[in-house]
Amino acid sequence: MKIKPALSYSHTLLKTVVQPGDVVIDATVGNGHDTEFLAQLVGESGHVYGFDIQKIAIDNTTTKLTNAGLLKPVQLYNYGHERIDQLLPVDQKIQAATFNLGYLPGGNHAQITTATTTIPALKACLTRLSQNGIVTVVLYYGHPGGRQEKNAVLNFVEHLNQRQFTVLKYQFVNQVNEPPILIAIQKRCDDM
Ligand SMILES: C[S@@+](CC[C@H](N)C(=O)[O-])C[C@H]1O[C@@H](n2cnc3c(N)ncnc32)[C@H](O)[C@@H]1O
Repeated sequence: MKIKPALSYSHTLLKTVVQPGDVVIDATVGNGHDTEFLAQLVGESGHVYGFDIQKIAIDNTTTKLTNAGLLKPVQLYNYGHERIDQLLPVDQKIQAATFNLGYLPGGNHAQITTATTTIPALKACLTRLSQNGIVTVVLYYGHPGGRQEKNAVLNFVEHLNQRQFTVLKYQFVNQVNEPPILIAIQKRCDDM
């Protein structure tokens, strides 16, 4: 057994709570790896809402899902995740959400996620999260602007009420080049 990297451990945690038929969110679609993973977990009876501000990300992911026969449960929006509350039904609960922060690998490195939209989107997901549901955040922060977002996200999650949420920080501490940090937030009770 090898200790898993942040992204891989995020998938391990999501797999423990997401079942066929569930509704989930991919808040940063990018090249569609997480969207595809979530589509496999929820199956045709479930639903994945996906968001990305870059059209190339939405187009490439649509092709990827079509080729894999996984497009049916997925609804992709070429909009920022800050519009979750505008675009999802007001009473739509979710079993999980995942954020993969930073820039699109192989794409425009200037188009980064920022705390200005990440924090409101996290709040929207936490408000909709079902009991025992999980939100994962994989924080890449080695790029310009990455540290500000990392600090804001850590500050936000460290102040979540521990009676309502269990918050995990998972990080390799002896690796060079700022390896990503995984944050996992699990909802403990329904009285938010
Ligand atoms: C690290 S990549 C995501 C990788 C992706 N999860 C995958 O499996 O390939 C970050 C993505 O966030 C997107 N992004 C930036 N700001 C955003 C926003 N406000 N809402 C949604 N996506 C955003 C970028 O366009 C980029 O594609």
